[in-house]
Amino acid sequence: MRFQPRNANTAHRNEHTLYLAASGGGKSQALAQNTAIPGKGARVILWDASGDHPGLHFESRAKFIKALQKGISGGRGFRVAYAGSTVEDFEWWCEVCWSVLDGDHRTYLIAEELSQVCPSPAKATPCAAVLLNQSRKYGGIFHGTSQKPQEVAKTFYDQCEHKFIGRQKGEAMCKKMGREIGLQPEQIAALKELQFYHDSPKHEKPQLITLKYKKIQGVKWLI
Ligand SMILES: Nc1ncnc2c1ncn2[C@@H]1O[C@H](COP(=O)(O)OP(=O)(O)O)[C@@H](O)[C@H]1O
Ligand SMILES: [Mg+2]
Repeated sequence: MRFQPRNANTAHRNEHTLYLAASGGGKSQALAQNTAIPGKGARVILWDASGDHPGLHFESRAKFIKALQKGISGGRGFRVAYAGSTVEDFEWWCEVCWSVLDGDHRTYLIAEELSQVCPSPAKATPCAAVLLNQSRKYGGIFHGTSQKPQEVAKTFYDQCEHKFIGRQKGEAMCKKMGREIGLQPEQIAALKELQFYHDSPKHEKPQLITLKYKKIQGVKWLI
């Protein structure tokens, strides 16, 4: 990593969160409706190729960086998204996120569809691993989704203390996800769209939640 974050503060908790459900299961909804992410005044950096979340969306790296710098210097929160696609793009995004972290602030790092940027289910790629393993003390809070849990690198499972497990495809995946959060495969198989088990350090057992669909507004493409 070329640039280092500032103001390490080891008092920050690990609040990294993973959302795993088949397509249409409600991952983006669960993320967008998660009250752990403040609606106003938060520093939010997104990896969001399809424009699933509100914010200023860019395909140009230069424009994305410019908007991010403007947001940071403005000091009043921002939502800036990069629409990359390759593993190399994602590594670059992770490095950018890492470089702007500041332990005096919380910075929400939201990434849609992790399977696309995981070359293997083993270790995450280097910059992604640094972000997952070390951003906590610099105020980083990672929220990532995937519809293909079997393709997501182990690092994301290990480092995300919060997991939202939604509707899964097939028996094997229901077993795997059940094992992940200490539930029976049948309990996972019974989940409907927009239903999740939220596994968190705050509760002894995963909590069943049922969401109501809300239209996501505020996506602005500036390319
Ligand atoms: N216009 C709508 N009205 C009501 N429910 C909707 C509408 N659009 C989508 N949904 C619900 O939201 C689900 C998709 O949620 P989403 O978070 O986009 O899923 P994912 O990100 O897991 O693919 C659908 O399966 C459906 O249940
Ligand atoms: Mg989605």
